[in-house]
Amino acid sequence: MALDPLYLATAVEAALVAARIQKRFFRQNPDIRKKGRIDLVTAADLEVERTFRALVADRFPSHAVLGEEATGPDDVAADCRWIIDPLDGTTNFAHGLAFFCVSIALEVRGTIELGVVYDPIGEELFTAERGSGARLNGVPLRVSPTTSLVDALVVTGFHHSVWEDPGPQVAVFAAFLREAQAVRRLGSAALDLCYVAAGRFDGYWESRIQPWDIAAGSLVVQEAGGTVSGTDGSPFDVFGGHVLASNGHIHKVMLDIIDRAVQRT
Ligand code: IPD
Ligand code: CA
Ligand code: CA
Repeated sequence: MALDPLYLATAVEAALVAARIQKRFFRQNPDIRKKGRIDLVTAADLEVERTFRALVADRFPSHAVLGEEATGPDDVAADCRWIIDPLDGTTNFAHGLAFFCVSIALEVRGTIELGVVYDPIGEELFTAERGSGARLNGVPLRVSPTTSLVDALVVTGFHHSVWEDPGPQVAVFAAFLREAQAVRRLGSAALDLCYVAAGRFDGYWESRIQPWDIAAGSLVVQEAGGTVSGTDGSPFDVFGGHVLASNGHIHKVMLDIIDRAVQRT
């Protein structure tokens, strides 16, 4: 069943509003606070999420919202639930590094049906609706054709808890350093996924990841012809806590590398 077009229009509208808020604070007065030892939140994160919740409450009062920064009437069993990361890449943002975005997804009865990710500095708007393809600023996206890992540029990220227990995450990272053409860590899971969709990266993996980091971007990858699963090859679950996304061609070999590296730790 086709989605109400108002949902995508609302997600895009909200992403543009989020971008205005983020740009107002970026390199000006980020007002950084700490949620944990290395887990940051800024005034922009909070204002974007507050604004988004108000928009959904006004336009779709029966919808729930699951967001990173606030709890509210969001965990209720609603048919439609928005999943938002108001600012993905907060550490970059706090340091004045221009690699961050807003990530907005809509889950309908347990399935992610729509994803929007907007990078306000690069002015890149990634959109996807299940079954309708993925787009970058309106232009259809396709994953890369790379078939071998030695020709692949891959990317990962680390959870804020990595300093407590770096073991397995560092082991997997080291294994890819040995096998891939190069490995990157850019600091925004949502953009990492969209870059796989755009064919800029050939693969991305991360463990201990949260649903708001990957809900929108995982659909963008799938709709661009890529493959998304758990890092152990299990069917992708946005709440599963781990993700491997690739162009499909190198998926199996990435799974094998992760498996071998984890076994050794
Ligand atoms: C983080 C970023 C980062 C990823 C972390 C996330 P935040 O989100 O997506 O790339 O490695 O796991 O927590 O804190 O910037 O919204
Ligand atoms: Ca995030
Ligand atoms: Ca965030």
